[in-house]
Amino acid sequence: MPARHRRRRPRPMLPALLLCALATSAPSPAAEDAADDAAAEVTGEQIYAYCVDCHGKRGEGGDGGTYPRIAGLPQPYIDRQLHAFKSQARRTKPMVPIFQHHRFDAEIIDLVAGHVAGFSPPRLSLWPYEPSAAALEAFADKAAFEAAGAELYADACAGCHGADASGDDAGKVPPLIVQYPAYLKKQIGDFARGERKMPADARCGEVPPAQAEAVISHIVELGK
Ligand code: HEC
Ligand code: HEC
Repeated sequence: MPARHRRRRPRPMLPALLLCALATSAPSPAAEDAADDAAAEVTGEQIYAYCVDCHGKRGEGGDGGTYPRIAGLPQPYIDRQLHAFKSQARRTKPMVPIFQHHRFDAEIIDLVAGHVAGFSPPRLSLWPYEPSAAALEAFADKAAFEAAGAELYADACAGCHGADASGDDAGKVPPLIVQYPAYLKKQIGDFARGERKMPADARCGEVPPAQAEAVISHIVELGK
């Protein structure tokens, strides 16, 4: 069961709290100093108020993977994604307005990325993965489906994402375990369609749909 499954209504996108905390329209030098102090005091936790409605209290995500789990992802990876949302190199409608706001500069992005990276990864009940009938039809039986997923993962993904799919230590390659299958599937599709840029030497999106389900099923198995 997704950690948060009820429909939530995202907040209005104007980050009022940030605007207050970072207000720089102060007319006098004294007021400017006060504003600088306020900016210095903004914490990752406060900024996270702009994320909580979608990503959950502790970054667990939800709605079956519409909102990915972000808790405990490596800080450099989160940072890079937030900059990619800001520049729209990675296009994600719900997140565009927030990150286009000029107050979400590199410092703010850094702070919130650090805060999210500090959450412990949630315990999500993702196992067992239930493949679609169409995916299963592409294979002789369930065992062949599972074997194909394991083989494809070992051949094409493990080299970067790790044999246990926990990513790398440097935060360049994200973990794939403890992530909603529906979200992983959407990313593979986005990579394939060019809506998300693949690293030059990676093949994250070069997976036909039935195979994608097989490889995701294997990832879920690795993370159980
Ligand atoms: C209105 C909803 C919404 C809000 C608010 C929101 N996000 Fe997101 N976020 C999403 C969605 C939807 C995705 C998945 C995008 C996709 O499918 O590619 C996402 C993706 C992400 C990712 C990428 C995860 C990955 O594994 O690559 C990160 C990191 C992230 N959000 C962080 C944040 C942070 C930090 C905030 C607050 C400053 C925030 N988001 C606010 C909806 C939201
Ligand atoms: C050459 C290294 C490399 C290989 C091989 C590779 N990946 Fe990736 N993958 C990456 C990197 C790096 C990223 C992060 C890209 C970014 O920063 O946006 C990524 C991102 C992803 C994501 C998005 C995760 C998220 O949280 O949004 C998925 C899903 C994914 N890869 C699946 C796969 C699958 C499945 C395979 C095998 C078929 C694979 N990748 C092979 C390097 C690789």
